Amino acid sequence: MPQPQDRWNAVDHYLTDRLVPADDALTAALAASDAAGLPAINVAPNQGKLLQLIALTQGARTILEIGTLGGYSTIWLARALPADGRLVSLEYDPAHAEVARTNLARAGLDRVAEVRTGAALDSLPVLAAEGAGPFDLVFVDADKPNNPHYLEWALKLTRPGSVIIVDNVVRAGAVADPDSTDPAVLATRSMFELIAADPRLSATAVQTVGTKGYDGFALIRVTA
Ligand code: SAH
Ligand code: DHB
Ligand code: MG
Repeated sequence: MPQPQDRWNAVDHYLTDRLVPADDALTAALAASDAAGLPAINVAPNQGKLLQLIALTQGARTILEIGTLGGYSTIWLARALPADGRLVSLEYDPAHAEVARTNLARAGLDRVAEVRTGAALDSLPVLAAEGAGPFDLVFVDADKPNNPHYLEWALKLTRPGSVIIVDNVVRAGAVADPDSTDPAVLATRSMFELIAADPRLSATAVQTVGTKGYDGFALIRVTA
C-alpha cells in the first residue's frame, strides 16, 4: 500500500496530465523561480487552474492577489481576465517581486498584471486611497498570521458578488487542533470567526490533498 503522500502525488499527476496541458510560460515561471532560489510553495497546477476557472466563472475583470512569490498563481489568474482587465498582486520580498515581473512579462501579461512591492498591510491602504477596486476576486496567499487583517482589507476592496479565496487554511489538520500554538493557525481560526460572525459573507472551506500535502482553501462570497 503506497504511503498517502505517494498516492496523492500519483493522483495529482494523473489528473494534471489529462486536464492541465503543459504550458511554456508556466513551466518557465517555475524554472526561473527555482533558479532564483524561491521556495516551491506556489499553488499546484490543478489548483492554479481551479483559481482560473473560478475567476472565469465569476466573470472577474479585476483581481487582487496578496502574496505573489514568483507569479505562478498570478499567471493563472491574470489569464482569466479580459484584455482590459486588471490584476494587482502584493509581494513583500523585492527579489520575489522581480522574478514575478519577469515571469509575467514572459507570459505576455505585464500590461494586465502589476506587482507591488512592500508589506501588504502597507500597500492595501494605498490601494484603497487610490480608489482601486472594487475587486471581483481576491486571492489571499501571503503570511498567514495576517489572515484576519487581509480578510478585513479584502472586504473594504470588494463589492457584493465578489469572491475571496484563502489558501492554506487547513495545514495538515492543525486548524482544528486545540493544542496548536502556531500563530498562523491561530490567525486563520480568528479569520474563520470573523467570517462566521459577518452576515455579509457566505463561505465554505474544503480540505485538499495532493502534491502540496494535506491542506485546504476557503471560498467566501460577499453577499451584501
Ligand atoms: N501565490 C503564490 C505563492 C505565494 S507564497 C503562488 O501560489 O504562486 C507567499 C508569498 O507571500 C511569499 O512570496 C512571501 O514573500 C509573501 N509575503 C510574506 N509576507 C508578506 C507580506 N507581509 N506582504 C506581502 N507579501 C508577503
Ligand atoms: C507555505 C505557504 C503557502 O502559501 C503554501 O501554499 C504552502 C506552504 C509555507 O509558507 O510553508
Ligand atoms: Mg499558498
